[in-house]
Amino acid sequence: MSELSTTQTIPPVDAVPNHVAIIMDGNGRWATQRFMPRVAGHSKGVEAVRTIVEACIEQGVSYLTLFAFSSENWRRPEDEVSILMRLFMIALEREVNRMHANNIRLKVVGDLTRFSPELQEKIRKAEALTNDNTRLTVTICANYGGRWDVIQAMNKLLVSEPGITQIEEHHLTPHLSMAYAPEPDLFIRTGGEQRISNFLLWQLAYTELYFTDTYWPDFGRAELASAIQSYQQRERRFGRTSAQVIASKKAS
Ligand code: IPE
Ligand code: IPE
Ligand code: MG
Repeated sequence: MSELSTTQTIPPVDAVPNHVAIIMDGNGRWATQRFMPRVAGHSKGVEAVRTIVEACIEQGVSYLTLFAFSSENWRRPEDEVSILMRLFMIALEREVNRMHANNIRLKVVGDLTRFSPELQEKIRKAEALTNDNTRLTVTICANYGGRWDVIQAMNKLLVSEPGITQIEEHHLTPHLSMAYAPEPDLFIRTGGEQRISNFLLWQLAYTELYFTDTYWPDFGRAELASAIQSYQQRERRFGRTSAQVIASKKAS
């Protein structure tokens, strides 16, 4: 596990990103543009999730991570927050069996203690049901914050190794909430903003970043294909020179 989520080794780089992480932004503006309530954008956003899950399988992606609710999103009006929670619960109920039938493993990461006991139970059951599935791992980041993740990992480390005085990367990374996955190869943010908004701060250290103005509800197969195409034109150097990258490709 220690080789995961680290800048100390160079990960294998394939033409298709093994792990795609997405900030699904722009639901509210999508709806407002159509004179609809913001919640209509969130409902449409759930449909886009279904399409992108299918598209990732078609493209050969192994891990898809979706930012659904940030630790800062509690600052939104109460009715929007409660509608988002309800949508999350409904989507979980509706999609879990379909995901299981399609051999998809579902994970939910974030500080789940703030969710209702009912929702927490549903999450736990969905994860248990799909735990052995192997086709695609879909991670939903809910009440997630990158800083929360690093701090909770440090706290877990302090409990598991109380005498520790010097922390190295390999001590911390097994405790990060996505220790089961390699770091994202491709990060996508829809909705036009060019910021990380406290998403996977540690894990994005060497991820290729892709920003698009398309609002999340309009992000479909073709848009994912364009993002992957952009990824395929990048040269991932991980600190090395271009000549070294070319030489290592020839050698392998
Ligand atoms: C993203 O869309 C969904 C969540 C943050 C839950 P937004 O709701 O942020 O949509 P905009 O950015 O206001 O358009
Ligand atoms: C980021 O979107 C979080 C999610 C998509 C869940 P926001 O729309 O909340 O981001 P900021 O606050 O505008 O940066
Ligand atoms: Mg937004």
